Amino acid sequence: MEDNSKAAAKTVRNAEQESTAAGTDSNKSEASGTFVAYMDDSAQPQPVRKQEKLPTSAKALDRWFAERQKQHGPRRLLEIPNEALIASAGPINLTGNITLVNEDGSLSYANHLSLCRCGASKNKPICDQQHLEVEFLHSGRIQEASDAQHTERPSKLTISVIKNGPITFRGRLRLHNNLGQECVKQRGSLCRCGQSANKPFCDGSHEKTGFRSGR
Ligand code: FES
Repeated sequence: MEDNSKAAAKTVRNAEQESTAAGTDSNKSEASGTFVAYMDDSAQPQPVRKQEKLPTSAKALDRWFAERQKQHGPRRLLEIPNEALIASAGPINLTGNITLVNEDGSLSYANHLSLCRCGASKNKPICDQQHLEVEFLHSGRIQEASDAQHTERPSKLTISVIKNGPITFRGRLRLHNNLGQECVKQRGSLCRCGQSANKPFCDGSHEKTGFRSGR
């Protein structure tokens, strides 16, 4: 019994010594200009985070985007130079600040479009790789000269899809190919029936061949 009380007294003494030592260390820290703050997190009231209500289903997400679009206007496009890569045996790969005027007059906006130029796409005016099926052969050569100065300055490019006809463009456009040829145009018509003798430009052949752009 006596041993137990001695042990308890020793424990209390040790605890007191440790606490005194800790106090001394803290004073030393303060004296040396280093302030160490100890905080017991469990004692502090935790800030209440406001729960964001997120739409759960895809439809709700679409509605949310549509609502945002109404409030903030159409998505802003990147300001990048207008370029058309005439792919060998493939589509016209357009990049730029593009406004697309569809056949029905509706507008869409894009920074990149891959336009069918073989005439066989089932998703006109967009390329759907049908050029592989129909074995569209054209090197992508460009036979016309520039009529505008090339500039890196981005500008708007308006592409209009003409029913049963070509795709016209308005706005500075640099056309180039993998052969190293290029030309810069301010406006023009691009063949999308695949029959022009002056590809990638339209030469009116779509009328002779009775090209139909409907699906
Ligand atoms: S669209 Fe091909 S020649 Fe006019």
